[in-house]
Amino acid sequence: MNYQLLTFKVMGDELGNLISLEENRNIPFNIKRVYYIYGTKTDAIRGRHSHPKLNQVVVCVRGACKFLLDDGKIKKVIKLNSPEQGLFIGENIWREMSEFTPDCVLMVLANEFYNEDEYIRDYQQFKESLSNDKKNY
Ligand code: TYD
Repeated sequence: MNYQLLTFKVMGDELGNLISLEENRNIPFNIKRVYYIYGTKTDAIRGRHSHPKLNQVVVCVRGACKFLLDDGKIKKVIKLNSPEQGLFIGENIWREMSEFTPDCVLMVLANEFYNEDEYIRDYQQFKESLSNDKKNY
């Protein structure tokens, strides 16, 4: 499955910690957009979509939440609860986020600007998009 858990280098000293994220260095793409999700209701399920042409790295800078990743064949559940980790999510992965702690802040870096036309928000359509991809080979 096209995802990867990244571990960032922490610049820690007696004052506290600092992590730096840089495009094409510890973030594996050109960064065009950063957005963050916070104040999420603890029973909310966010996401429920895939992107045919988008790479993202998600950092849970505070609190915790759960990610369900699904490539149409395999499902993987990942708990994000550390600002020292980033979850890289590549193309064609259905994602659902849940179990947000009240303090959860999710920061997302993306390699493209926001484009609603590039979202697949229907699971059946997601599955069909995968078999359409295969037909192109
Ligand atoms: P949405 O994609 O539904 O969030 P999630 O998948 O995390 O549940 O986005 C919520 C709203 O924010 C929706 O109206 C689209 C808008 N939005 C932007 O304008 N820019 C962005 O970069 C993102 C991610 C969302």
